[in-house]
Amino acid sequence: MPFQVNFKGENVIAIEESQTLLEASLAAGIPHYHACGGNGQCSTCRVLVLEGAEQLSEQNSCERVARQVRKFADDIRLACQIKVKGDGLIVQRIVKDETDRFLFINNDGEDLHQVTGIRKKLVLFFIDIRNFTPFIESNLPFDVIHIMRRAFAIFKNAIEQYNGKIIDTAGDGLYAVFGLESKIKTSLDSAVLAGLKILEDIKIFNNTYLRPYFNHQFEVGIGVHAGKVIYGNVGIGLNDNLTVMGYPVNIAARLQAATKEVNNSFVISEYAYQLLKKPPYAVGTARLTLKGISAPFEVKLIGKPYQPVVAFAKND
Ligand code: FES
Repeated sequence: MPFQVNFKGENVIAIEESQTLLEASLAAGIPHYHACGGNGQCSTCRVLVLEGAEQLSEQNSCERVARQVRKFADDIRLACQIKVKGDGLIVQRIVKDETDRFLFINNDGEDLHQVTGIRKKLVLFFIDIRNFTPFIESNLPFDVIHIMRRAFAIFKNAIEQYNGKIIDTAGDGLYAVFGLESKIKTSLDSAVLAGLKILEDIKIFNNTYLRPYFNHQFEVGIGVHAGKVIYGNVGIGLNDNLTVMGYPVNIAARLQAATKEVNNSFVISEYAYQLLKKPPYAVGTARLTLKGISAPFEVKLIGKPYQPVVAFAKND
């Protein structure tokens, strides 16, 4: 008696125990790519297994080689090499047209997890330089960019020291994530340590460089939240930029923006704070009204109040 396989978004097909998944899908009229004729060479028949992986046959040597060369994630299988042992399998074809074929097969060194995207709980970390506009207006373009580079080097060093990854920069701020390779609790501690290091390093930078040479001082605002997001690589063929999307990203950005309102340089959501293994010693609390959230949003304040803006005399 044949089993049933659901090709998501296409059809539910019948498959005999003796058939490969590719043979069954072609027999059912699904336009399943199979450039090498089902010989395990081209990988155009690849499918993403959404449910019922336990109903599939083990990897054979041919599939093992293809998976190793192409760095497939565990949930990607070659339809021409697998058979089905029972009901409950749901799969999705990956190469559905010539554009897909170009994106996936012509992508040297492909890593299908990067390409297809992952949903995972990550720490979202936003940082922005305060009072930068007056500095831009009163200094030479060379100096503005040079100082930006110095400030961003401080951010980058701290973020990378604690295993975070910078996702994007915008103006005088940037956005990073922690937890791509680690568990959420460890990543939260790392994100907080990175943020506290940045606050300390900016203070040193102000005292030893910005104030003596430019008669100025910076402050920064940091917002941290954690939650399930989707990330993946959409810069196919151009670069390996990672994109991270989801509601928690917006919340973290709003927490960063709220640092001014609550007069504290480091705002972390109560949710993220509760997951910390080693919470910081000095902590304040606040309730924010965030766009799109009806209830007040609880946060912890783990930075410092901003200093009043003071004008320094030259060579002060
Ligand atoms: S059809 Fe070529 S690898 Fe499956």
